[in-house]
Amino acid sequence: MNLRVDVFMSYERCFYFNLPDVQKALHANRTNLPYSWSMCSDGGQDSVLPLLGSRTPLQELAHDLYLKITVPYEPWFHKGQVGGWATEYGNLLAFATVRGAAHMVPFAQLSSALHLFSLFVRGWRLPNTTHPSIDECK
Ligand SMILES: *[C@@H]1O[C@H](CO)[C@@H](O)[C@H](O)[C@H]1NC(C)=O
Ligand SMILES: *[C@@H]1O[C@H](CO)[C@@H](O)[C@H](O)[C@H]1NC(C)=O
Repeated sequence: MNLRVDVFMSYERCFYFNLPDVQKALHANRTNLPYSWSMCSDGGQDSVLPLLGSRTPLQELAHDLYLKITVPYEPWFHKGQVGGWATEYGNLLAFATVRGAAHMVPFAQLSSALHLFSLFVRGWRLPNTTHPSIDECK
């Protein structure tokens, strides 16, 4: 996309996330809601990235792509503690949460966020034990 949009700016974010092409690419708004996307609703939850509201369309996407669950939804570990929960579909799609992170993950859980991001860009799995794997030591 040739638009120079900073999605961290509220007014630009509202414009950007309401673009039909962006919603299509994100598999968002698949039910053609009768109102436009906005940052907040009257609910008490994080309406931007709710857990179930994220997992459900992801499961639908995996189903549409004929991907089976290859790693069940289970904890991943960071510094000997639960870093969050993660699942994988096929070897194509992964979903991970960061424990105690709320909405602003790098702000609230900097170390866990860096760990998750570092493994993601290397294409490595999140550790499913408290012991570092041989791969993690490279
Ligand atoms: C959903 O898509 C419809 C167009 O199909 C659009 O009018 C509406 O604003 C969108 N709603 C949200 C919440 O994105
Ligand atoms: C951890 O993940 C590896 C693959 O990365 C798998 O072989 C192993 O069974 C998993 N262990 C547990 C306890 O889930």
